Amino acid sequence: MTPKTFKIKSFGCQMNVYDGERMAELLGATGMSAASDGDDADLVVLNTCHIREKAAEKAYSDVGRLRREDGSKPLIALAGCVAQAEGAEAKRRSALIDIVVGPQAYHRLPELVTEASRGARPVDTDMPAISKFDALPDRRRANPSAFLTVQEGCDKFCTYCVVPYTRGAEISRPWSDIVHEAEALVDGGAREIVLLGQNVNAWKDGRRGLAELIRAIAEIDGLQRIRYTTSHPADMTDELIAAHADVDKLMPYLHLPVQSGSNRILKAMNRSHTVETYLLTIEKMRAARADIALSGDFIVGFPGETEEDFLATLRIVDEVGYASAYSFKYSPRPGTPAATMEDQIQREIMDDRLQRLQARINDHQLAFNRSKVGCETQVLIERKGRQDGQMIGRSPWLQSIHVETAARPGEIVDVAIVAGGPNSMAGVERRKPVLNFVEGVAA
Ligand code: 5AD
Ligand code: SF4
Repeated sequence: MTPKTFKIKSFGCQMNVYDGERMAELLGATGMSAASDGDDADLVVLNTCHIREKAAEKAYSDVGRLRREDGSKPLIALAGCVAQAEGAEAKRRSALIDIVVGPQAYHRLPELVTEASRGARPVDTDMPAISKFDALPDRRRANPSAFLTVQEGCDKFCTYCVVPYTRGAEISRPWSDIVHEAEALVDGGAREIVLLGQNVNAWKDGRRGLAELIRAIAEIDGLQRIRYTTSHPADMTDELIAAHADVDKLMPYLHLPVQSGSNRILKAMNRSHTVETYLLTIEKMRAARADIALSGDFIVGFPGETEEDFLATLRIVDEVGYASAYSFKYSPRPGTPAATMEDQIQREIMDDRLQRLQARINDHQLAFNRSKVGCETQVLIERKGRQDGQMIGRSPWLQSIHVETAARPGEIVDVAIVAGGPNSMAGVERRKPVLNFVEGVAA
């Protein structure tokens, strides 16, 4: 039976969120419609993440849960990085899976659905030379903050990471395609665009780099904010740093993963930066934009990490003073060099280090949020809050801000920050001054 309704569930990174939106647009263009919340769908696409073991295992338990009480099931497509990594093996692991489609092949999803509804179990994990983007429909509707993939894949081969295998080699989308998509997103309601790439700051088209692309996109009328993520320290050029000093629409936020504060571990990770070069980049960034909010990623328990190495990681957290950061326990991934390194770290040690690191990161996050109390700033409203009249939006530094306002999603509101908690801030709307005329005299 040909499915009429679909549901797409995306896990993992923001690029998967973007891919999920594009798959929805693609299926929509073939006449299918998204199932309403709470309703069963004829087709379920699980857009999966392979970055750590836990995320990958989740994919299979999610598949199992799609079996209905009466024993029936929807058509099931396994998409994303688990699909890419496992290929046909995924079908052997779960008889419930009908379609396996990788992140570089999802433009073929409608054909694969047709094949599957005739009883086949197709697998497509090709990484074709022809860009999947050319086969996707134009964008029509967008959230106030919209993702736009500009670069995919990775040539850096950090020794712990599966991304070069699941997402393939680094490719940059052409300049004109990106500008065209950005314009379509703004026409469709976007006020903020987040440029995405596994190594977004490695984006290039001929001699033009990400800084020039940001300057061009900043010219689009109606677009208010630009962000980009995730950047690699080795590709943080002076031009990109300079853009933070003079492009008003470029938000004061940078996600720049360092992974460890120990040069010995960075070398074993094949990170191609040192603590010193990383800190120099941070210093330049702060000179360009003093209020920049810095964010990062950390791995604890990489093979061979000693207590001393770990203490160096705590030191770099203090030195940078991150406004937010993500931290993970090392997870050995099949096929990566680190998975077979000696000196794998015990679980209990990893648990303890992760706890200490997260406590330190939280201290800095709270300090950052509190330092903004009393500041006047702007919030891009994204959605309704829990309380009546309350809306939630984002600060320029990416924190959620709660504010009472009549403004709708997509509007920008002037606020004064009145409170800063560990994960969000509260703001009070600053209304434009209203003049009261009493017999022609401003009161
Ligand atoms: N184990 C734990 N964390 C990992 N990351 C990437 N690979 C692994 C792994 N094998 C983390 C890194 C990266 C983020 C997206 O996920 O910190 O920056
Ligand atoms: Fe997960 Fe990485 Fe793939 Fe994103 S790129 S979906 S984080 S494995």
